Amino acid sequence: MGRAIATVASDYKEHATVAKMEKLIGPTKPIFIGVAVVALFMLIWSFSPSASFPNISDVAKMAVLPGKDGGATKDCATVSYQGINLGHDPANKTFYDDQALSYEIGNPVTNWDDKRREWLKHHPSFATGAEDRVFVVTGSQPSPCKNPIGDHLKLRFFKNKVDYCRIHGYDIFHSNAFLHPKMVSWWVKMPVLRATMLAHPEAEWIFWVDSDAIFTDMDFKLPLEKYKDHNLVVPGFPNKVYKEKSCGGVNAGVFFIRNCQWSMEFLEVWAGMGPQTPNYEKWGQILTSTMTDNTNLESDDQSALVYLLLKEKETFGNKIYLEYHYDLSGYWVEIVKSLDTISDNYASIEKGVTELKRRHAEKVSEHYAAVMREAFANKSGSGGGRKRPFITHFTACRPCSGQWGYSEGQCSNGMEKALNFADNQVLRNYGFVRPDLLNASSIYPLPFGFSSYYKEK
Ligand SMILES: *[C@@H]1O[C@H](CO)[C@@H](O)[C@H](O)[C@H]1NC(C)=O
Ligand SMILES: *[C@@H]1O[C@H](CO)[C@@H](O)[C@H](O)[C@H]1NC(C)=O
Ligand SMILES: *[C@@H]1O[C@H](CO)[C@@H](O)[C@H](O)[C@H]1NC(C)=O
Repeated sequence: MGRAIATVASDYKEHATVAKMEKLIGPTKPIFIGVAVVALFMLIWSFSPSASFPNISDVAKMAVLPGKDGGATKDCATVSYQGINLGHDPANKTFYDDQALSYEIGNPVTNWDDKRREWLKHHPSFATGAEDRVFVVTGSQPSPCKNPIGDHLKLRFFKNKVDYCRIHGYDIFHSNAFLHPKMVSWWVKMPVLRATMLAHPEAEWIFWVDSDAIFTDMDFKLPLEKYKDHNLVVPGFPNKVYKEKSCGGVNAGVFFIRNCQWSMEFLEVWAGMGPQTPNYEKWGQILTSTMTDNTNLESDDQSALVYLLLKEKETFGNKIYLEYHYDLSGYWVEIVKSLDTISDNYASIEKGVTELKRRHAEKVSEHYAAVMREAFANKSGSGGGRKRPFITHFTACRPCSGQWGYSEGQCSNGMEKALNFADNQVLRNYGFVRPDLLNASSIYPLPFGFSSYYKEK
């Protein structure tokens, strides 16, 4: 057995060494300066020669705007209202034209940063803002749920993600396929993320959210500037990982990963402990013996991630940010107990701020989110209250299989409450509110001057 493990470990080392040899890529700022220069040339070309010389940041803003008549610009066909040109794909060769390139895990792309940069150069409307573009990915099994209510819940969990993405202008992909026949259960996301990196070179961050996790703060945006030196952000606690060596030190069900060469390598090494490899069983043993609390004999993605943090700090660990300052994967049991209080707290804040009660288009929600943040911060000085948890993760509820890890009633009520809590933040933009968080059928129109249901006490 010792020998076999040594072989596995050396295979693994080899892989890690390959990864080490690749220059680890940090923030990709220079790309965008390059892009801005290209944009500048395009601008000079398409505007009259008498136009005054704009500075680079103006160019970045202006280059993607439609022509003055609101229609097509001179050089391309149609520019959509968001300034992104969905109809422009010039014949210039990019990585998509390389016959040898594979979307599959196990066949890493090399020089991905250059290839992505090259694509962006040919798609200037996507280059603008690419440095903080987020793309959300989730997934579920291809077959119907065994539990009769499972598919209904799955739809509502997905609707919640679509709502969040629409409010923030993010795109979302739901995968209902096993892109690698052997990478099922925990491992299903790696091949999906790998393929998404290639399908969305315009996105800087790929944000994986498990199907049983929902956004419970529709206003919250990932504080991306904080992660400029990192390539993977996972909910986790450094103490639990590095001191306790606990497999619960991270949660691998919600995380975001930078669309770069480092991630290309990282996904390969991480997936290298999965069920598609001949060493799967051995990895199960290694992970069980490395973690202090891993009773699971099978290798799982979460323990595998803790293992990489412990053993590959130089290669990978230093680029992984363990986030515990907000609920990137909040524990639902604790959260659902406080949702009524949080609703009341926000309602009372809104009651005191005229601007927050103003009706507005859903598209400008981020403006009101900023006002709310300020109002909340103002109140925090005088006692505050609990913030809306960003993400509530129904870990171990398993609504699809019906193999509830908690009591069915506890999970069902918890999910109902959290879904309606989240949905109230959306419905208000449509002029309605659901006063009873446990009853999805209770719907009332919001009167003018009200932004939420406020229980008079
Ligand atoms: C794309 O290809 C066209 C036609 O060959 C060429 O004129 C143009 O310079 C190329 N664009 C870039 C950015 O390389
Ligand atoms: C927060 O407090 C500042 C200072 O008192 C005040 O100017 C501002 O209007 C408050 N903002 C909100 C949204 O309540
Ligand atoms: C849910 O709300 C609807 C509409 O207000 C109401 O008719 C129904 O009785 C409520 N159901 C429960 C279980 O309270």
